[in-house]
Amino acid sequence: METEAPLGDANPSGSPSRAADGWLAGTRTSYDTVADSYSDYTREALAKQPYLLAALALFAELVHAIDGGPVADVGCGPGHVTAHLHNLGVEMFGIDLSPAMIDLARREHPDLRFEVGSMTDLQLADASIAALLAFWSLIHIPDYAVPTVFGHFHRVMRPGGPLMLGFHVGDESRLKTQGYGGHPMKVYVHRRQPDQVAAWLRDAGFTVKAQMILDLDQSVPGAILFAYRQP
Ligand SMILES: C[S@@+](CC[C@H](N)C(=O)[O-])C[C@H]1O[C@@H](n2cnc3c(N)ncnc32)[C@H](O)[C@@H]1O
Repeated sequence: METEAPLGDANPSGSPSRAADGWLAGTRTSYDTVADSYSDYTREALAKQPYLLAALALFAELVHAIDGGPVADVGCGPGHVTAHLHNLGVEMFGIDLSPAMIDLARREHPDLRFEVGSMTDLQLADASIAALLAFWSLIHIPDYAVPTVFGHFHRVMRPGGPLMLGFHVGDESRLKTQGYGGHPMKVYVHRRQPDQVAAWLRDAGFTVKAQMILDLDQSVPGAILFAYRQP
């Protein structure tokens, strides 16, 4: 069962404040707690999502078109998407905030590299990667920290490299207190309008090329944005 509570009026921006920097620790602990059940939940799911698979195939083509590698999957979770792109011939590695997720990803995909790290403080050298994917991980970053995260993405990518983002569409932020089989969580989930995310990307030095909206008839659609790091 998933349990999410809307944030109260005391925080009208819907984001945890800078003072409440415990949000990062809360996210880490939450995904450490649910790592196994999240992995069970996602293991078979990707194969049943043709639109996501098409977006990933397009991303792989964009990387091949620039003969690019390596490519970072930031917020990779159990590494199933990392492995899928690897199987499409992309030189992938994964980074995640949660040590338990990284342990799991290493166990499930021993031929791939996975490291613990945060997109808020990305420990990669400047211009060291060809492309970057962040699939449903930016949803845990409050608004005030998104420009910092996109600044890191821009810094670590080489000019002309493709970026793909997946996130929930909406205007609300919620505190999720349970998930993936009723496990306790304390993680903020931020829904966003694609135009807002695109504006942040442009401010950080990306050119936004395309967007896909998934599950338009669901209460919470998904969005995928494709962008390029400007030269
Ligand atoms: C909803 S899961 C998505 C996992 C995977 N990308 C997928 O598509 O299934 C969110 C993941 O983002 C990770 N995450 C959250 N905040 C992060 C951060 N600041 N840096 C890196 N990873 C983060 C979590 O630990 C979790 O594994």
